Amino acid sequence: MRTHVVDHPLVAHKLTTLRDERTDSPTFRNLTDELVTLLAYEATRDVRVEPQEIRTPVAATTGVRLARPRPLVVPILRAGLGMLDGMMRLLPTAEVGFLGMVRNEETLQASTYAERLPEDLSGRQCYVLDPMLATGGTLAAAIRFLVDRGADHITAVCLLTAPEGCARLEELLQDLEVPVTVVTAAMDERLDEKGYIVPGLGDAGDRLYG
Ligand code: PRP
Repeated sequence: MRTHVVDHPLVAHKLTTLRDERTDSPTFRNLTDELVTLLAYEATRDVRVEPQEIRTPVAATTGVRLARPRPLVVPILRAGLGMLDGMMRLLPTAEVGFLGMVRNEETLQASTYAERLPEDLSGRQCYVLDPMLATGGTLAAAIRFLVDRGADHITAVCLLTAPEGCARLEELLQDLEVPVTVVTAAMDERLDEKGYIVPGLGDAGDRLYG
């Protein structure tokens, strides 16, 4: 597993406002959208393309287009939904599938309550959207779900990650042969006793939709 922390002043600036407890929900949603588009630029660095012949007004040339099958974007409900538009801005022809997952706030165990994904993901590149990688349980379950259906390349886009969660994710997925990359705006200090990222930004789902 590879973790890529995007080091860019605009990402840091937007993330700072996102973290601020005074930021209201409408602003939080707009900033999430902008931040995800910046992260998506890095996250799609490995998107598969194939050659395409075109003619410019001057001459024939060879460019590229997105390869088939199309990439699949998977927001994890509920909070991942706030990241969908920002991602689709850069991948407008991608297919979208949905996974609903919730973490029990006492046991910190993740469970799946909804699923709307293609049955066969053979040969598909998947982009998983989840704002917080805290203990890593949610993302590990989501990634395993996609790989079990045949996905062969996974990139997770997270606003924030915790070192404990990244280490656990790596451990939980160590048997997978599929490449997994986590692209994030920041690796924070730690998790607190409730499994919240510190300093973090609070509960992303509540701040987006609460
Ligand atoms: C939050 C967050 C992640 C998950 C991270 O979702 O959006 O999906 O917890 O935690 P983990 O890494 O410890 O598994 P939550 O369960 O609060 O659901 P929500 O998106 O519906 O708010």
